[in-house]
Amino acid sequence: QLKGIIFDLDGVITDTAEYHYLAWKQLAEDLGIPFDRTFNEKLKGISRMESLEIILEEGNITLSEEEKQRQAAQKNEHYKTMIEKITPDDLLPGVKSFMEEAKAAGLKTALASASKNAQAVIERLEVTHLLDSVVDAATVKQGKPHPEVFLRAAEQIGLNASECVGVEDAQAGVKAIKAADMFAVGVGDPVSLQEADWVIQDTKLLTLDALKEKLNK
Ligand code: BG6
Ligand code: MG
Repeated sequence: QLKGIIFDLDGVITDTAEYHYLAWKQLAEDLGIPFDRTFNEKLKGISRMESLEIILEEGNITLSEEEKQRQAAQKNEHYKTMIEKITPDDLLPGVKSFMEEAKAAGLKTALASASKNAQAVIERLEVTHLLDSVVDAATVKQGKPHPEVFLRAAEQIGLNASECVGVEDAQAGVKAIKAADMFAVGVGDPVSLQEADWVIQDTKLLTLDALKEKLNK
């Protein structure tokens, strides 16, 4: 029985996935590494340092630990200037009404983001009150596709994984939801998110009725 919804943030609730993309693209190109949207799919849902490692590997570049920290911090500064401008208007279509619908139906809600900026983003979006729990990304040991963050979210809202549905835009995120043994809703391209149980190309299509229909199939 459905008792909880666990949301990813970037690319699901708001389009900060685009800001991460732009910030990584700048960093990669400054290092002379070609960077496009196809390559970016591999970074979605992946932590800051791990993303940097993937980019450096692609460019066959070796940096000292100190230089890696500097590059990652610089990417984050760039990202932070972009999220400063976020307002509630930046919520993706239908997301807030879906969250409200979930709360009204007595469901628990939680955020399972890999981003250390998640708290700042949900505050700017003014949806903090619609989330019963937010997993602190800084305390997650194994990033997506490992299920840890989704399992932690379920635990924090007092539910079993089987009672929760996860919503993700990233390949690694969908894998994490499935590894947690939850029903996975993918937001985005059905081909890249083929491991999801239900893929929607637009967040407007995410309603409680539509979800329940998919769950009962
Ligand atoms: C995820 C994003 O939500 O958070 C990734 O999909 C990002 O692109 C990751 O790298 C970590 O974010 P941050 O804000 O801690 O650098
Ligand atoms: Mg995401």
